[in-house]
Amino acid sequence: MEQSRIYLCLAHMSESNLEQHYIKEAFDTNWIAPLGPNVNGFEADLEAFFDDRRKVVALSSCTAAIHLALLELGVGQGDEVLCQSFSFCACTNPVTYCGAKPVFIDSEPDTWNMDPKLLEIAIQDRVEKTGRKPKAIIVVDLYGMPANWEAIEAVGRRYDVPIIEDAANALGSFYQGQPCGLFGELGTLSFNGNKMITTSGGGALLCADPQTKKHVVFMSTQAREPFPYYQHETIGFNYRMSNICAGIGRGQMTILENHLAHHKRLHQLYHELLQGVDGIALHENPDNRYDSCFWLNNITIDPELHFIGQIDPHTSCEPNPNVEALRVYLDQQGVEARPLWKPMHKQPVYKDAPAYVNGISEQLFKVGLCLPSGPCVSDENVKFIIKCIKDALV
Ligand SMILES: Cc1ncc(COP(=O)(O)O)c(C=O)c1O
Repeated sequence: MEQSRIYLCLAHMSESNLEQHYIKEAFDTNWIAPLGPNVNGFEADLEAFFDDRRKVVALSSCTAAIHLALLELGVGQGDEVLCQSFSFCACTNPVTYCGAKPVFIDSEPDTWNMDPKLLEIAIQDRVEKTGRKPKAIIVVDLYGMPANWEAIEAVGRRYDVPIIEDAANALGSFYQGQPCGLFGELGTLSFNGNKMITTSGGGALLCADPQTKKHVVFMSTQAREPFPYYQHETIGFNYRMSNICAGIGRGQMTILENHLAHHKRLHQLYHELLQGVDGIALHENPDNRYDSCFWLNNITIDPELHFIGQIDPHTSCEPNPNVEALRVYLDQQGVEARPLWKPMHKQPVYKDAPAYVNGISEQLFKVGLCLPSGPCVSDENVKFIIKCIKDALV
């Protein structure tokens, strides 16, 4: 049988089609709006998932959630915000939307997330250089792996700098038994099409109390004052999730636990099948404090290994050429693999931003690949992927 293409992480709907049921209900009741019963229901489902320890605001994206989180913390023109360099641009761009400046912090080798020691060095150095403390810290649980929260939160407390936890990849991950999303002052989630659950596009902001939630809802709906006519005293945003998207989210919440179990099973399978493959290391929980949802499974590859894939000599390639050869080979076999994030401090758009680096994220970018991991990936697919990797070794 011909192998169909295997993607990194595709959207996957419930077998009972609950997503369509909630969407149909929205149509039938004409709640085609950025508010309605699905929005309230989805927020309630998420609040229950987090044991009612946070108030949730459903938004149009995680990027919007990070933007509003920064505004809640009072980030504005000229402020500095400490950002995890090894991540997607969506974690940093909202800093610039606020007129503030990102300052990048490199990763630690175990979690691949923000290095707490560099974070402390950066805070001290920014105070010395600018005379002001950074206004906030954005820490990411990248690919589902929790950050080193005990150490990160201790630094935040020591210098009294608030933290935003970007748990876009980490719905269902835990650190020391606490769900990701609950660390720091505010937490963010993504429900983009490739995430642990999807609303097609969407995100959420996890707030500590009802007053913060009320203000975030106000800001996300154009900051409309409570008048019978349109009265605006603040610049707001059109960031609320629609009742249609939230309907998808309600259906998806019913299969979140299945998705989590599936991602973790695939991780275990990758782990078993990669035993004895010298020079290829799966990114694993560093110790028993960490319980990653393994949104994506990632490998790092010894750059001395050679693979049979042919890379185009005319295209410039920043990852290691041997690693890129493996990616090309997998692509030809119908397997989507993707280089790990290119660190933000190496992105041309942020070339002038201060950065506190140790070389870890640059090295990970050069030698790492994300492998297919979602609910549409079967055990047979994983076996095929590992076979391809072994076949490609020269
Ligand atoms: C770590 C991280 N943060 C934020 C985002 C942005 O999420 P959204 O697409 O919902 O804005 C992503 C998207 O992939 C992400 O990986």
